[in-house]
Amino acid sequence: MSWAKKLRDDFTAMNSIYESDKLLAEYLLFHFGTADEILPQYRTWPAGMREALEFPVRTVAHFTPGGAATGLDLGCAVGRSAFEMSRNCAHVTGVDFSHAFVRAAEALRVGGSLTYERSEEASMRTGLSARRPAGVDGENLRFIQGDAMNLPSDLGVFDRVHAANLLCRLPEPKRLLGRLPWLVKPGGELVLATPCTWLEEFTPAENWPTAGTLEWLVEMLTPDFELIRRAEEPFLIRETARKFQWTTSLVTVWQRLG
Ligand SMILES: C[S@@+](CC[C@H](N)C(=O)[O-])C[C@H]1O[C@@H](n2cnc3c(N)ncnc32)[C@H](O)[C@@H]1O
Repeated sequence: MSWAKKLRDDFTAMNSIYESDKLLAEYLLFHFGTADEILPQYRTWPAGMREALEFPVRTVAHFTPGGAATGLDLGCAVGRSAFEMSRNCAHVTGVDFSHAFVRAAEALRVGGSLTYERSEEASMRTGLSARRPAGVDGENLRFIQGDAMNLPSDLGVFDRVHAANLLCRLPEPKRLLGRLPWLVKPGGELVLATPCTWLEEFTPAENWPTAGTLEWLVEMLTPDFELIRRAEEPFLIRETARKFQWTTSLVTVWQRLG
């Protein structure tokens, strides 16, 4: 087997978790679930869990208020942030490597709703329906399957680029970082979010930042971008009725110079 084919096969295997029904249901709930569907009121929850809801809406809120012509959401998963970007951008493209996620995002764009099952415990499931966010018709939006490390050369150049919780899921994050100056228009904005959870199952250790992720991003993106702002945004992914991923993501907002 050739070296390139092995690398491709390893990469596909790493990302196959995002093709599973389990992850698809978790992400539909994470992106489109109501507060009550994620944290039902009949149980009491630790303070702060509610503040971690609506992550894909909060990361998009880091763009400067007002309209823009074009937006790109890389690693868009089932699409919530792309739907949110489409409120203020005339045209938005969402790209994800997972065929299952892109199919779900497209089904929501076209049909407005999609049924799925929330996992409770053991084999107990509850049927739910994900709905396209109110006030968004999806007509200025397209979802495509693709690799953020190897984007089509004719993808275009955008006023706004968003990539949330993607970098530390890439085998070679520098390939995306190196392409960003060609994806963001001069004067345009880039919002990156990363929980900095570098894991060998996704990224070989030799491709991890050698110091802090923030310092590494500054080094990688300077001088093409200026760091405008940084923030922390918590997020909550419900796996079962009592098991959650409760994490905080480092958000950095950049302006393309030149
Ligand atoms: C941790 S999830 C984050 C999803 C979403 N942005 C969010 O914040 O909820 C990572 C996403 O990146 C996608 N992904 C992984 N590798 C990718 C690649 N090479 N190109 C594009 N998307 C990729 C996965 O399919 C998954 O949807």
